[in-house]
Formats: sequence, C-alpha cells, structure tokens
Amino acid sequence: MMKVEAIIRSEKLGAVKSALEAIKVHGMTVFEVKGRGEQKGLEFTHRAGKFRIDMLPKTKIEVVVKDSMVNSVIDTICNSARTGEVGDGKIFVLPVLKSIRVRTGEEEK
Ligand SMILES: Nc1ncnc2c1ncn2[C@@H]1O[C@H](COP(=O)(O)OP(=O)(O)OP(=O)(O)O)[C@@H](O)[C@H]1O
Ligand SMILES: [Mg+2]
Repeated sequence: MMKVEAIIRSEKLGAVKSALEAIKVHGMTVFEVKGRGEQKGLEFTHRAGKFRIDMLPKTKIEVVVKDSMVNSVIDTICNSARTGEVGDGKIFVLPVLKSIRVRTGEEEK
C-alpha cells in the first residue's frame, strides 16, 4: 500500500473528494495546514509598500490505497485540483507497511 499526501487549494477539496469517490476511493484524512512552495508564499504590493505572506493556508488530504490504485489517485487529484496557476499544490507518495481496522482487527498489507 501507499499513502498519497496531497496539499491542495482549500477551495478544491469538494471537487477532489467527489473525483476520488468516482474512482471508489472513500477513506481519507483531511487537515487544514499552512505551507509554502517555490514562490515562498505570496508577495503583493499595497500603497504602503511590498508585503509578503510567507505561509499560505492549504488543505492536505491523506489517502492510503493499494499500489495498483496510486497512479489513478494521483491523476484524479491533479485533474480535479488544477487551476493552472502557481500554488495548485504538491503530491507526495510514501510506502505504508499495513493498516488495521480497529473494529475487526482485520489487517491489510
Ligand atoms: N518541498 C516541499 N515539502 C513539503 N511541502 C511542500 C513542498 N513544496 C510545497 N509544499 C507544500 O505544498 C503547498 C503548495 O505548494 P505549491 O503548489 O505552491 O508548490 P510549488 O512547488 O511552489 O508549485 P507552483 O510553482 O505551481 O506554485 C505548499 O503550501 C506546501 O504546503
Ligand atoms: Mg508555489
């Protein structure tokens, strides 16, 4: 199994959730986070001068899936979260050893 961690624009969460549901990916954990990428946040000009917000609010989605689903999860998230502007997000993929369902003790590898 793999964990797909996607940091996306918060306003895209609904679209990403529906798109994942459409490929039968239901389990996920969502976090409200702050972060920065290549542009080190956002610089803007105001009458009083230049300002920088260096940590922007984002939403992080964690989805653990079978290896065979990883590529379609990545494509689905990219397609549903993309605007084409900087700040669309990043996806990280990590190996997962196993999961255990608490109710039944059932393990999945
Ligand atoms: N190297 C990284 N490590 C951990 N988190 C990161 C990294 N790069 C980006 N992030 C996270 O992803 C969020 C979105 O990043 P962002 O989309 O701005 O990436 P980017 O690499 O700057 O791409 P773009 O040029 O399209 O903006 C950041 O706010 C941060 O939370
Ligand atoms: Mg960026």
